[in-house]
Amino acid sequence: MYPIKRNRRLRSSETLRSLVQEEIITPSDFIVPLFIVDGKNIKEEIPSMPDYYRMSLDYIKKEVLELWNMGLKSVLLFIKVPEALKDNMGTEAINPKGLMQKAISSIKETVPEMVVMTDVALDPYSSYGHDGIVENNQIINDTTVEILAQMALTHAQAGADIVAPSDMMDGRVLAIRTLLEREKFHNTGILSYSAKYASGFYGPFRSALDSAPGFGDKKTYQMDFHNRKEAQIETKLDVEEGADIVMVKPGLAYLDIIRDLNNLIEIPIAAYQVSGEYAMLKAASQKGWINYEAVMYEQLVSFKRAGASLIATYCAKDATRILT
Ligand code: PBG
Repeated sequence: MYPIKRNRRLRSSETLRSLVQEEIITPSDFIVPLFIVDGKNIKEEIPSMPDYYRMSLDYIKKEVLELWNMGLKSVLLFIKVPEALKDNMGTEAINPKGLMQKAISSIKETVPEMVVMTDVALDPYSSYGHDGIVENNQIINDTTVEILAQMALTHAQAGADIVAPSDMMDGRVLAIRTLLEREKFHNTGILSYSAKYASGFYGPFRSALDSAPGFGDKKTYQMDFHNRKEAQIETKLDVEEGADIVMVKPGLAYLDIIRDLNNLIEIPIAAYQVSGEYAMLKAASQKGWINYEAVMYEQLVSFKRAGASLIATYCAKDATRILT
């Protein structure tokens, strides 16, 4: 009780504040998303994601070396697929010589210790821009799951450390885990996007990969953002099905969900600060309305405070420059 208890006492100097700080954030908490395109000598800025690039493999190799030297230890790979290779069955997604599979092995060759995570979903490969196979304007669950499991297997065979299903089909974690076990990939991890909401925040990502849905939206598989308990149901199931890490996506608007899951499950939780969040930070700072570094750092710390132990973020390099 005042004046015996003065809360300002422990805030009175930088050193005192740092002694009692509850959360810290380090570069090894970050997962760096990489956008990969076919070809050579390509490094093109994504218009809706300033200072973020799509790169061909030659540039990607340089990039992962740079990331590793900065202390960033994990990457999450996304592929931009040429229109001619898209179809409704995700044929290119399970091509062992596809761009994703080539990217995985060349990154592992370049920096063997880098943790390579891969996106598992059909949307970049789909002529409909959906995460699953389409029949009569419906996204078909079980056939999609079979393809996703095969896709994950080709990633594991190419050397992926962790596969990350982001499609939100039912039962895909179990199908992937079962196939990986059967094929003796006992140590390939699964980071499942267990609570992924149908969100307007993915816009810049979809233009980066040219993967926006050709018809309808993703609300029959991604979650309704009015719901909180549903995230717990989804996540508990993914843990039972064999996920090693679960993820909440988007990030900032879903801190309550991260906290709920932190109270519910024991395995690590990742947060994804998605493309729309990045675009907002960049746009406001370009206008001179916010300080990019300060607001970005504050947001990243909020993920940890909410209970995330890993953060996928387009700000990873910028944050690392502040932290080191
Ligand atoms: C694909 C996928 C998406 C994102 C990650 N994986 C887009 C979507 O579901 O439409 C979004 C990432 C971002 O916005 O940064 N399934």
